[in-house]
Amino acid sequence: MTIQLSDKPLLEWAGDSLAIGLFEDAVELTGELATLDQKFSGVLKELIAEEEFKGKANSTIFSRVNPGSPVRKLILVGLGKPDALQLDTLRRAAAAVARVGKKQKSKVLGFSFPLWNNDPAASAQAIAEGIELALYQDIRFKSEPEEKGSQIETVDLLGFGGQEAAITRANQIVSGVNLARQLVAAPANAVTPLTLAETAQAIANDYGLQVEILEREDCEKLGMGAFLGVSQGSELPPKFIHLTYKPEGTPKKKLAIIGKGVTFDSGGLNIKGAGSGIETMKMDMGGAAATLGAAKAIAQIKPDVEVHFISAVAENMISGHAMHPGDILTASNGKTIEVNNTDAEGRLTLADALVYADKLGLNAIVDLATLTGANVIALGDDIAGLYTPDDAVASQIEKAAETSGEKIWRMPMEEKYFEGLKSGIADMKNTGPRPGGAITAALFLKQFVKETPWAHLDIAGPVWTDKENGYNGAGATGYGVRTLVDWVLGSGE
Ligand code: BES
Ligand code: MN
Ligand code: ZN
Repeated sequence: MTIQLSDKPLLEWAGDSLAIGLFEDAVELTGELATLDQKFSGVLKELIAEEEFKGKANSTIFSRVNPGSPVRKLILVGLGKPDALQLDTLRRAAAAVARVGKKQKSKVLGFSFPLWNNDPAASAQAIAEGIELALYQDIRFKSEPEEKGSQIETVDLLGFGGQEAAITRANQIVSGVNLARQLVAAPANAVTPLTLAETAQAIANDYGLQVEILEREDCEKLGMGAFLGVSQGSELPPKFIHLTYKPEGTPKKKLAIIGKGVTFDSGGLNIKGAGSGIETMKMDMGGAAATLGAAKAIAQIKPDVEVHFISAVAENMISGHAMHPGDILTASNGKTIEVNNTDAEGRLTLADALVYADKLGLNAIVDLATLTGANVIALGDDIAGLYTPDDAVASQIEKAAETSGEKIWRMPMEEKYFEGLKSGIADMKNTGPRPGGAITAALFLKQFVKETPWAHLDIAGPVWTDKENGYNGAGATGYGVRTLVDWVLGSGE
């Protein structure tokens, strides 16, 4: 599928389906649309009246036009109230249209959408992202595809002439999101610490990044006892991934993105029981997936920012080698941890990754992790929790999330709750009481960052969706990639 830009007047466009974005309560047709309606002998007006179309955000209706007409079908999509228009409204509306176009077997699809904030570049990018994200399909694990893929060959964005760079940007970002989706959706017998390291290696080769994979012995030398403790029950050796993008010339900023990379979380000896969702725990590397997806996008966009992409990747399994509940581990900063629950493993892997990144002399670190069920209880499936003691980094991330349309909510770092992690025998326990469990997890992580402004995103909810949601089909969402890319680009301004 190619997305083309054109300044052809709406009335002259010809193709299979013409999609028109309409604001709520402003569906009476004026100007160009009135002329268009006349051209199609009033079918537009009839359609709006018959279907009681009100222009509510994401509502779509469509109709066939007179045979012989240069446009075969009209698709109307609601954009909600004009003063509530957000970039993400356009992205979601474009996705809704793309789905209708796919179902209708359209080959040539035209879009007539308004601008958000008088910004043609941002609007074109959001529309292109919405279309591409919605048409993603994953048939890797089907012996025969049950459903035909999209037949859309060409998309014309009308009124967006000259916005080629915005479309390129959308393609680069979506390639990263789709990589993350593929990594999260693939089961734990397909995505392992080794294959994730290979994926990092492939990104480095394809786009000219530096890559270092630390093996178990390297991690031992660095004293990464917390990370290695998690990995020790598995047959599969751990891999510590460090990919680096360096711009030409002096970087404006140096950043790290760290992702939790637990390729399967059985819970360890505190094994996840029935009804715990253990069969979904292939998604526990969603942070690492977002990290690698962001690396793929950033490597193509080439901003003036140095970015380190890091993940301590392991499986959390049981065997005679597994950690015992109660074991004491020593992290690479010398801190000792009493593992009172082997299922709180993500924070153990992140601890050593954070210590490692903290030594790189960076301007900021952001980690993403499917860290706690408690965060899902607090914020539901769609919203990530943002935890940081740093207001500047918080507002950078919030701004990036707003642009990307990925939902985020800042949570408190209530220091007093660290008391819940006090250990009688070691420096701290890895698990506190159930109330405030996502906050104590974040406070645990904070013990391992001393020099660098840092933020943590708990993405346990939004990495996955059980049903179609906006531009995401059911399954892995690639959550985080778009916010991360936007954050990095914003840091280079
Ligand atoms: N990977 C899980 C968190 C998770 C839950 C991710 C649901 C995605 C969906 C994490 O390792 C975990 O097991 N957390 C425990 C922590 C508890 C033992 C303190 C949890 O949330 O129950
Ligand atoms: Mn766990
Ligand atoms: Zn986990």
